[in-house]
Amino acid sequence: MNRREARRSENPAKISNKTEGNVASREISLALRTAARARLEGRLAEAKRICEDVLAKAPDNITALHLYGVLAFQAGQSDAAIAIMKRALSHGRDLPVLYHDLGKMLAASGRTAEAIRAYRGALQFDSNQPAVRHALALQHVAMGEIANAIEEFCKAIELAPDDAALRQNFAGSIQHATPLSMPENFEIILLRCFAHDDIEHQNLAASAIAVLKRRANFPVLRNAAASPDDTQAGPATYRPFIEAFAEDPLVNALLRKALAVDLDLEAILIWLRRLVLSGLPGEFFQNETARHFVASLGLQCHHNAFVYAVTAADAAAVEALQSALAERIAAGAAPASWENELLALALYRPIHKLPFADRLAEMPSSIWSESAAIVLARTLFEPRQEAALRAEIASLGKVDDLTSRAVQAQYEEDPFPPWLTIAGSERISLGTHLREILPGFDQSAAFDRPVDVLIAGCGTGKHPLEISRLREAKEIVAVDLSRTSLAYAVRMARKLGIDRVRFIQGDILEIEALDRSFDVIESVGVLHHMASPLAGWRALLDWLRPEGVMRIGLYSERARRSIVNARRRAHELGLSATPDGIRALRARVVDGEEPALDGVESFSDFYNLSACRDLLFHACEHRFTPLGIARALAELGLEFLGFELSPALACTYRERFPDDPRMLDLACWERLETALPNSFMGMFVFWCRRVEIQMMAGSN
Ligand SMILES: C[S@@+](CC[C@H](N)C(=O)[O-])C[C@H]1O[C@@H](n2cnc3c(N)ncnc32)[C@H](O)[C@@H]1O
Repeated sequence: MNRREARRSENPAKISNKTEGNVASREISLALRTAARARLEGRLAEAKRICEDVLAKAPDNITALHLYGVLAFQAGQSDAAIAIMKRALSHGRDLPVLYHDLGKMLAASGRTAEAIRAYRGALQFDSNQPAVRHALALQHVAMGEIANAIEEFCKAIELAPDDAALRQNFAGSIQHATPLSMPENFEIILLRCFAHDDIEHQNLAASAIAVLKRRANFPVLRNAAASPDDTQAGPATYRPFIEAFAEDPLVNALLRKALAVDLDLEAILIWLRRLVLSGLPGEFFQNETARHFVASLGLQCHHNAFVYAVTAADAAAVEALQSALAERIAAGAAPASWENELLALALYRPIHKLPFADRLAEMPSSIWSESAAIVLARTLFEPRQEAALRAEIASLGKVDDLTSRAVQAQYEEDPFPPWLTIAGSERISLGTHLREILPGFDQSAAFDRPVDVLIAGCGTGKHPLEISRLREAKEIVAVDLSRTSLAYAVRMARKLGIDRVRFIQGDILEIEALDRSFDVIESVGVLHHMASPLAGWRALLDWLRPEGVMRIGLYSERARRSIVNARRRAHELGLSATPDGIRALRARVVDGEEPALDGVESFSDFYNLSACRDLLFHACEHRFTPLGIARALAELGLEFLGFELSPALACTYRERFPDDPRMLDLACWERLETALPNSFMGMFVFWCRRVEIQMMAGSN
């Protein structure tokens, strides 16, 4: 049980007073109330002493045992605490809250299977407890039992639809594993999650697509997309299937809120986009439902930075459409008469870059249909706001390093990452967070206060804005080479009402210009893009306070085998990092012409043009192994504090290396990664601190 949970943990005395008021004597009851108050006010020794007095007189008093167990747990004596809780339960006066608290203790001690049994015990009394179901779901996730986890999540969300943390954990758990069996209300829950903007919608995408693939119309449309010539002969045959697809709320939610990360779905969307371009609009736009779908598809294309393949015929048709539209606008035709064509053009081109973008922006907002207004907000007005914000962003000065300049040029053209929503329902201190993710980290109390944070290489702002939502921070400074990325970040910060992040443009190699130090420095997915990752790391280390910690993210050599092949192949084929080059390489993967690149399509970055450049065409990329990280840490005088791990990977490590419960041995990690090379697909994300801190702590 962490501190947050301990805070939330109900007051045992209060609960028991309700249920066993007749059992406890008035004197005992009063004493226990005092003990409970003492615990809540942090006077743990006093609370413990009162419990011991009560238990000396009434050894079977369940309230006293419960409180005593909670206190033992808070004092770090988990085994003793669990034994006390089991003793309380053995008296036959079952109380759901006892089971719930026992479950939390077992969960925190890594005794997952027992925790599941305890939570199930709590549900026997009352099945409508969303907090218990939530906790149970998380334990199923830890066991790798995704189907069970999803079932519990769905029941919990139905009971507590406003619980953002619950929805976010649900989304996180289905991020990679799409369920084979889905609860009946799964789709409703997905739609509900899409309707709330306080979670990361991208995490829902794979499951939403799995649901769509089970629909009867999906294979029909997929076949039609694969043989478009037949379709031209008789589009009417497909009409009902297309209409069902266009009306589907899950299709529309997915297209508007996340990247559609699937090649079959992509094929259907490319085909439908072409049908809209090639004349279907005339009839198709007749009703608002169809227009709504075209708007959804336009938002998807804008969000994926127009990554979809374009044939020469498409390109010619788009050119003709744009010219015709320009003429009508110049001639002063009523917007209602060309709005559908504008929506069709938005499927292929960024509206804010059209030669008549200024004219569009000047038109009164009242003239647009709802669908057009939404498309224009995202594809015209937001990019214009970003353009205006560029000048407001402070700078660290000139970027001199040649690699930094090349990397800067890449991210000016193709900012990263693409994102629309972030999670974060409750702020906790860094100390609490470190206790949750780094078992046995002994210095976490130093971070139980708001800290100063530097995010070095913040990209489009998802990273610092998430930190600002999740952590108790005094100040967050976020630096990046790319002004385009920062402009997106600043706009999103304002939209989300976050004012605690200071965005600055500049090179990590020039970070001394900030002339200030930090408690925490995070640099995730950045140092491996510098000419010398160690030089960048060292430049940051100079500004880490003596007791500070760093969070670093680096690519894995083994996990990125297919990426390395793809980069080599792109080079051999003479494909460059332009939109056409990126689309051409993707097309070869999609058409199965590059068997050696199998697997690249499983990266979500494959489904956005800028992210695909980041993935396959980067200006500079280094990769690491666990032993390589160990060498870098040694060279910098840093101590490894642990990786951020999925529950499944932590479980695998513990099974293989039971003698290293803190999971800190990088030689063991090297062996594990050699055996399971996809373990760090995303990247290695880990925490470290200066070695001398450890030595000082040890000598005290
Ligand atoms: C892959 S993105 C990661 C963004 C962010 N950390 C995240 O996880 O979402 C890499 C970012 O690092 C920035 N970057 C790379 N080298 C840098 C340098 N030398 N100084 C500052 N930023 C740099 C790039 O401009 C880019 O926005």
